[in-house]
Amino acid sequence: MAWTTVNIPSQSGRLAVVTGATGGLGYEEALALAAAGAEVVLAGRNEHKGADALARLRAAHPGATVRFEQLDLASLDSVAACAQRLLAAGQGIDLLVNNAGIMAPTQRQLTVDGFELQFATNYLGHFALTAQLLPLLRRVPGARVVNVSSLAANLDSIDLTDLQSERSYVPFQTYGMTKLALVMFALELQRRSEAAGWEIDAMAAHPGYARTDIIGNGPAARGIRGALWRITKPFLLPFSPPAELAVLPILFAATSPDAQGGEFYGPTGWRELKGPTGTATMPARALDDSAAAGLWETSERLAGVSFA
Ligand SMILES: NC(=O)c1ccc[n+]([C@@H]2O[C@H](COP(=O)([O-])OP(=O)(O)OC[C@H]3O[C@@H](n4cnc5c(N)ncnc54)[C@H](OP(=O)(O)O)[C@@H]3O)[C@@H](O)[C@H]2O)c1
Repeated sequence: MAWTTVNIPSQSGRLAVVTGATGGLGYEEALALAAAGAEVVLAGRNEHKGADALARLRAAHPGATVRFEQLDLASLDSVAACAQRLLAAGQGIDLLVNNAGIMAPTQRQLTVDGFELQFATNYLGHFALTAQLLPLLRRVPGARVVNVSSLAANLDSIDLTDLQSERSYVPFQTYGMTKLALVMFALELQRRSEAAGWEIDAMAAHPGYARTDIIGNGPAARGIRGALWRITKPFLLPFSPPAELAVLPILFAATSPDAQGGEFYGPTGWRELKGPTGTATMPARALDDSAAAGLWETSERLAGVSFA
């Protein structure tokens, strides 16, 4: 039998933090975790969308313990402020889902900190957040960190020597690089957790292809691409699972007793675009331990954080 949300064990007494939970897959993750009894922090950059997500979630599950935390992953100050608020509250974190993401904006853009926007939002912000939440994760033996990646992590053209896409900005290639970096980060965190006895399990998961706002917000945000996207979107409907189905590999990684640190989960159907949850194809380059260690050290330096 395929794994579904009915297989989620009780999450009662557990605290989950989900980034980018104001819409798309992140909202579905928060909804399923709250339905299973977890206290859930919906972390996002847009307060209005946060209030709307909380209202929808409470309408679906009136007893849910959920709250919104302001978090703009494209700003290291915002990441630090969010982490500080959670640290001040002092509650151990059982689960951190590094879910938020943007995909392939057509033009290279820089954040307030001067980093390329996809690199900062998808990867570096999550790296900084995880580092700063480490004391709260370490308070819960068996805490999990789940990094949400993508099939794009397998692109051959990814250039890990140009993290800011300065030499060349090919939107989807940069997206793939951030998603490969998230898998490498999960695997390296697992290795460091085991070596240091942090008792944190870190893993990655991808949803295949899901019907969310990610294309409309990114490559098809405006202009001719946006118009083309609105015309073609209805024809893709039969091939694109809704978010509540596509989210299952991420929820499996987040909650199943069978999920293990250092693994990568995804749908197992045709080309891993959809289908029953299982082990995903690990991008070959994610298995380069020395590249992952180098990326970790560079990330600590760029984000000004330390897991020490
Ligand atoms: N949909 C797919 O087919 C697919 C496939 C592979 C991987 N993924 C991954 O799945 C994850 C979720 O994507 P989705 O499909 O659910 O897309 P989505 O519907 O566009 O949702 C993305 C979420 O991330 C948030 N976000 C964006 N920039 C942020 C920032 N700077 N700070 C904080 N939050 C930010 C968005 O907030 P706003 O509402 O404020 O924009 C939104 O809540 C992403 O990491 C994506 O790469 C998706």
